[in-house]
Amino acid sequence: MPQLDREKITVLTLKKRKENGEKISAVTSYDYPSAKIASKAGIDIILVGDSLGMVLHGDKNTLKVDMDDMIYHTNMVAKAEPLSLVVSDMPFQSYHISVEKAVENALKLVKKGGAEAVKLEGGRRRFKVIEAIINAEIPVMGHLGLTPQSINRLGGYKVQGKIRERAKEIIQDAIELEKIGVFALVLESIPMELGKKITEKVSIPTIGIGAGKYCDGQILVFYDLIGFTNLYLPKFVRKYADMHSVVYDALKKYIDDIKKEDFPGDKESYHLNKDIDEFLK
Ligand code: KIV
Repeated sequence: MPQLDREKITVLTLKKRKENGEKISAVTSYDYPSAKIASKAGIDIILVGDSLGMVLHGDKNTLKVDMDDMIYHTNMVAKAEPLSLVVSDMPFQSYHISVEKAVENALKLVKKGGAEAVKLEGGRRRFKVIEAIINAEIPVMGHLGLTPQSINRLGGYKVQGKIRERAKEIIQDAIELEKIGVFALVLESIPMELGKKITEKVSIPTIGIGAGKYCDGQILVFYDLIGFTNLYLPKFVRKYADMHSVVYDALKKYIDDIKKEDFPGDKESYHLNKDIDEFLK
């Protein structure tokens, strides 16, 4: 059933957006209801991100997320039939062992999960794998800057590219990833000046998260932007709602109503048919 007066977003739509200088909106979401509402609101890209390990599973990083998790959550999002492009994250280990294994896993996300594209983290270390996945007809979104699956090598969730050598490396990786054929590039936690430079250098859309306003688009985690969690949020998050307070207040009221015997009321109760009413008396 069509959800809005707009067309399905594809990788070609995103290319045109960059050519026309139109900004791109993206959210990370992991389930049917959030995918439905994101699509209805007009979000361009839904990323089923491996951040689900931290946001949904309560892990302290994304490293434990596996292929089963990603297929399971991608499926929920795909079932919502969003008009947004559905991109699924390749989890840690799914593309680190061999090129063959990586292609097999990317194919699973499409065939079993219903993803329309995949995202994977990293630059020069991943060129071969990315090329092979693209050759298997799967569009790939790159991810540079702070790559959370490299947390142990990077030594923490630190802003990347503040020093010359690292900034140069990220720019070179971005240019090469475009040559290899990625359709878009997530830039995470880098200085805004570097985000601007990369956005000017490549003709594919850059999607920033903590990469400043010059990127072609922006992505935030759904639960962060609606303010559902009251945990620590990075500097780059803007909370557009305070759903934590809304839900907390609703639960407090529910508990109160139960105690006061105000819930369930007559309206929320079923009633006997007249003929057996007498019988039960
Ligand atoms: O997993 C995720 O949510 C992501 C975004 C932060 C881009 O990779």
